[in-house]
Amino acid sequence: MKYIFVIPLTLASTLLWASPSAEEQAIAKGDEASSLLLQRLGGELKMQMQTNGPLGALNFCSQNALPLTEQVAKETKTSIKRISLKNRNPINTPTSQEIALLNQWEKLANNSQPLPPYELVKRSDSTMIYYKPIVINNEACLKCHGNVEGDLAKAIKTAYPEDKATGYKMGDLRGIIAVEMPH
Ligand code: HEC
Repeated sequence: MKYIFVIPLTLASTLLWASPSAEEQAIAKGDEASSLLLQRLGGELKMQMQTNGPLGALNFCSQNALPLTEQVAKETKTSIKRISLKNRNPINTPTSQEIALLNQWEKLANNSQPLPPYELVKRSDSTMIYYKPIVINNEACLKCHGNVEGDLAKAIKTAYPEDKATGYKMGDLRGIIAVEMPH
């Protein structure tokens, strides 16, 4: 008796698995690209902090964060940006639609509520954007995004006169990784 139910279910899931929807594909691609970016940036940052200290790491980030992001985008055949309501780099300014999503997620984070792992937005018939929250989940982030003082604060102001990315604490929403892909 059991097999009558098991076989159709197995067949149905095999068919689903064989042809994932455009949404499923976009989510998988967004996951892949954003994880790869976090891994690359995080790995480099950690190494720079250990070998060259915060000032050296700051210098490294300002010269390499964008090229590294471009590199991951190229490898995954996507277009990637990092955005924040309080961005350090003027290039990482969100669009008005993105500001709405950032505000929504910031509210959740400020109320210690769980954030969704991602959000998928269909932008046009041919484009989808995958948004992943970036939360301050490591004390190391606070070196450059917390209450920064002294030489490091001066160096940040010199490199980024319009810097807004300080004053964060653990658990805050730092920003979003946006992965845009054709489908
Ligand atoms: C050594 C200093 C330093 C540390 C430590 C650091 N950052 Fe940054 N961060 C920067 C600099 C410089 C920029 C601007 C350059 C860029 O990335 O475009 C930046 C930019 C960002 C941005 C892009 C939005 C914006 O503000 O322009 C995000 C998101 C971000 N950092 C998250 C983090 C997180 C999360 C951590 C901890 C894992 C972290 N940062 C640790 C220096 C640092």
